[in-house]
Amino acid sequence: MSAQNMHIDSYERNWMIFSFILLAVFASAIAVAAFGMEIQVPAPEERVDPGTVATDPNSPWSNPGLREIAPGKYDAYILARAVPQWEYLPKEITVPVGSRVTFYVTSPDVQHGFKIQDTNANFMVLPGQVSKLTVTFDKPGAYNFICTEFCGAGHGVMYGAVIVTP
Ligand code: CUA
Repeated sequence: MSAQNMHIDSYERNWMIFSFILLAVFASAIAVAAFGMEIQVPAPEERVDPGTVATDPNSPWSNPGLREIAPGKYDAYILARAVPQWEYLPKEITVPVGSRVTFYVTSPDVQHGFKIQDTNANFMVLPGQVSKLTVTFDKPGAYNFICTEFCGAGHGVMYGAVIVTP
């Protein structure tokens, strides 16, 4: 049968056209969200050795905290740990309003979570892996971050804050 005399029912053809339009709309929505609104999927940035990540002097997490890499742009190296106690290191970071902060979070022991209140930042923190996400803080205030993965007896007290100053 040649393509010329292949009959496609109009009902079926319309659904095919509709399906292709739907695919195009979804692809555009993803493109707009990713490139226009900068909505990112938290990506595993790199692999590290959980046994030495907190102690190796060459590891940024041996001295966790905030680094200013350009005016208004920061890298925040945060260690989420359960031993010797459940906590984030550092527990608090302070940046001026309008700052763009890229978080690099890892764990030397068990699985943790990292969710920053009033932002769309929410990801898992796995030992051996670095989770990375960038957040722009446009409004001053205290943005608490909490652990969202059950990590043991102290899970409920595992929190910290990003302080955004005017
Ligand atoms: Cu750390 Cu839950």
